[in-house]
Amino acid sequence: TAVTLIGAPTDIGAGYRGARLGPEALRIAGLSESLRALGLDVADRGNLDGPPNPWTEPVDGYRHLDEVVAWNQSVMDAVGAELRGGRMPILLGGDHCLGLGSITAVARHCREHGKKLRVLWLDAHADFNTHDITPTGNMHGMPVACLIGLGPRELTHLGGQAPAMQVDEMRQIGTRSVDAGEKQLIKRHGLPVYDMRKIGDIGIRRVMEQALDGVDDNTHIHVSFDVDFLDPSIAPGVGTVVAGGPNYREAQLAMEMIAESGRVGSLDIVELNPILDRDNGTALVAIDLVESLFGKSTLVRD
Ligand code: ARG
Ligand code: MN
Ligand code: MN
Ligand code: MN
Repeated sequence: TAVTLIGAPTDIGAGYRGARLGPEALRIAGLSESLRALGLDVADRGNLDGPPNPWTEPVDGYRHLDEVVAWNQSVMDAVGAELRGGRMPILLGGDHCLGLGSITAVARHCREHGKKLRVLWLDAHADFNTHDITPTGNMHGMPVACLIGLGPRELTHLGGQAPAMQVDEMRQIGTRSVDAGEKQLIKRHGLPVYDMRKIGDIGIRRVMEQALDGVDDNTHIHVSFDVDFLDPSIAPGVGTVVAGGPNYREAQLAMEMIAESGRVGSLDIVELNPILDRDNGTALVAIDLVESLFGKSTLVRD
């Protein structure tokens, strides 16, 4: 397998600065080397360019909208180019607003090649806010809404047509922090969510079986891995920590099961904030889990 690392060093959509350092933290923690050790062909294209973070107040419920559009455009172009070249893009964020550009490119690629799309959104948050209901104006809380056509035209139509994807092409896993208005919107649109309560009730194994149900040989799986998915006890280096997340082994089993589907076609690693981390430990944990996603097994007989 050939994979390409694409750095997007920005925190333009976040409420705390530092995610702009995520790509370098992942490189320094040895992401390329780890993937190469698994036998992958790894190319690192370096970092994309984009506008600086002006750190201004929201306007009409959007913080830094123009800059968010610019960053997402370059992410979409870079991810699309790798897919066209037959390589698997790995987006190194950067905050999670960039999931919009990445998944818009993936969805368009699937449409052009008659592939089924399954987005696995691993996150403490639903990121399903719109400008009228957001409590913060931070655009990393809005990419999922934009992807299904709810949002400003510049973002919903990033890939030319809207919506970029259908709500039933997504599965959210690990959810445990959802705002009041966001909750109503999730119900109204029937967004498929496996929240932490569900994981507690039936366990991570059955949750992943259900989230992967219907995946076939013609499916492209996109994993959007927001590092705050993980319990803060193992991953403190994120801007929006929420207690009560999956532990190391639960997260690892989730990644192993996704790997076993054999259908992973693209990945985002977002929201890593080295400023808030200790000794780059969160980057190291994220890399361990990405290794599992690319087939590192814990089976004694595999
Ligand atoms: N729901 C909150 C908001 O809209 C937090 C979103 C956090 N998103 C993230 N990708 N970390 O501001
Ligand atoms: Mn997120
Ligand atoms: Mn999150
Ligand atoms: Mn409106």
